[in-house]
Amino acid sequence: DKGGYKHFMAKEIAEQPTVLQGALAHYIDTDTMQVQLPDPGLDFGKVERLSLVACGTAYLACMVAKYWFEQHARLPVEVDVASEFRYREPPVPKGTVALFVSQSGETADTLAALRYMDGRADSILSVVNVPESSIARESDLPLPTLAGAEIGVASTKAFTCQLTTLAMLVLKAAQDRGEMSAEDVAEKLKLLRALPGMINQALNIESQTQALAGELAEARDILFLGRGQMYPLAHEGALKLKEISYIHAEAYASGELKHGPIALVDPNVPVIVMAPRDALFEKTVSNMQEVMARGGKVLLIADEKGAQEAGEGTWRTLIMPEVDDFLAPILYAIPAQLLAYHTAVAKGTDVDQPRNLAKSVTVE
Ligand code: M6R
Repeated sequence: DKGGYKHFMAKEIAEQPTVLQGALAHYIDTDTMQVQLPDPGLDFGKVERLSLVACGTAYLACMVAKYWFEQHARLPVEVDVASEFRYREPPVPKGTVALFVSQSGETADTLAALRYMDGRADSILSVVNVPESSIARESDLPLPTLAGAEIGVASTKAFTCQLTTLAMLVLKAAQDRGEMSAEDVAEKLKLLRALPGMINQALNIESQTQALAGELAEARDILFLGRGQMYPLAHEGALKLKEISYIHAEAYASGELKHGPIALVDPNVPVIVMAPRDALFEKTVSNMQEVMARGGKVLLIADEKGAQEAGEGTWRTLIMPEVDDFLAPILYAIPAQLLAYHTAVAKGTDVDQPRNLAKSVTVE
């Protein structure tokens, strides 16, 4: 049941404030304002290294989590695409905890990677949307993302719920490792609890993305740029767009541009820049200006102040709510989803069932 929406994807995008609220309620003890994990829990103070493995969008959630765990919990993290993991037979040092992220919990490569880590890692965690799935059942600590059934092949609400669940783990890890006080954690949890409302606000850019979509749909290639924790989001924007609109899209770390990809810039290649006003904002903006100086057609996604500071000369600007650095990757998933969705609708592709793709990839 599409609930009155034209596509499941549109419905699932719109559902995000509600499902996120449910996930937050599940993981936050509101009396103590602390993170609560299901039994048997985990003491991150004893963890020396995390190995995160997943595919597709779930892999991109892991990439965001790497920035988070390293910055906030000072915990070394490695991230792997599941299909590249087990055949290289990675050595697993003592003190390693493995974490698998999957919407379906049945992705063949992710499950095989989990089985490789079984007996090698100290413990196996998973962040899964389907609680009775193989990956959940074979983990020591399965953490549900509580996004509800996701029907559209393009992952939307599962991604933001994965990020939210991972954010909980990051805060727990930061506290266990003495990198954040109980008060710091309570502060971040308060911000997280305001996130559903902010996502509602961010969804207001829908009509603007729709207005842009016609022009984006004409493009043959589109570039996405981001720095730091926005780099994985640039990848998410590109993946989503490729998957449902069939437009060739690539993501680059903004700072990597001048090492090759800037040669692709010309007036026919829209360049989408994800630039919340975080610690790296100015650096991202200076990379964006390099693109504009070469005739690039820039779509800037930033908050109001960011757009005032840097929006001059851009092709278009999408204004997002102001957001704490920590939560920016979750909020900036919304424009990534909406741009892909409306561009695909403008092209007339089969949004929920894109060609050549399956919702759950159970063969390698
Ligand atoms: O069920 P999983 O989360 O393990 O699936 C992983 C990928 O196949 C999936 O995220 C895929 O990339 C999506 N269609 C992207 O929107």
